[in-house]
Order: sequence, then structure tokens, then C-alpha cells
Amino acid sequence: MALYTDTVMDHFMNPRNVGELQDADGVGEVGNAKCGDIMKMYLKIKDDRIEDVRFETFGCGSAIASSSMATEMIKGKTLEEALALTNKEVVDALGGLPAHNLHCSVLAEEAVKSAIQDYYEKNNIPYDRSKFPSETSCESCRMV
Ligand code: FES
Repeated sequence: MALYTDTVMDHFMNPRNVGELQDADGVGEVGNAKCGDIMKMYLKIKDDRIEDVRFETFGCGSAIASSSMATEMIKGKTLEEALALTNKEVVDALGGLPAHNLHCSVLAEEAVKSAIQDYYEKNNIPYDRSKFPSETSCESCRMV
């Protein structure tokens, strides 16, 4: 059996929503301390809904595929819905990842959360901090 599914290969070779959003309302940057990979997520938000999303990932193929899939999954969603996105859902949507690459999908979940948190912070919107990964607990360490 191939190590990577066709969906993973597709999102790795043809990543969706790549690049920077110049006028992003929220920007999240996370990194994995172990492998050094970095993911940046940009959100354009209107009326509590994600109008547009872009990402830049400097990392492995699984991280690129995970971030590409995550952007597709949160586009058009409310912030609440996007916050509920788990790395497991991203992995499932990709048709699976090898066990040693599961942590790469965590980066995608945390990048989305970090960008939403940035939006809340910039706009002085009160939010439930328990819904966000703490800065000290890292599978993926926050860069900011
Ligand atoms: Fe670093 Fe995949 S090996 S995120």
C-alpha cells in the first residue's frame, strides 16, 4: 500500500489557498519544535465568518497537505465552526496519514486556532481561552 493517499498527494502537489493575504484580519503562526516546520495561516473575516483564507507552510509534505485541506474545510465557516476543527478531521479528510506524520496535522489545527485568537485579540473580542492550545503545552509550539 502506498504511504500517502491520492488526496494527500493531490493537496501536496497542488495545494489550495497558498500564499499571503495582505489585508488579513487574523494571522496565526505555529511551529513544531521537534522538526522545525512552520505554518502561517491568514484569515479574512466578515460577520463572524471566514470569507477567505491563505496559508504558507515551510515544512514537510504532510504539513502542506494538512494545511491545504484545513483551509478548504474552514473557508465559509463561522469562527465557532472553524474552532471546532480537529486535526483528526483533517487527517480523515485526507484519507489518512502515516502514523509518524500525524503530528503534522496538529500544526494545521493549531494554525487555524492561532489565527482566530489573533483576530479576537486585535479586536478586543472576549473569548474562551480554554478553546486554544496553551503556549507551554506543545506538540506544536506557538511562535508568538
Ligand atoms: Fe514537521 Fe511534518 S515533519 S510538520
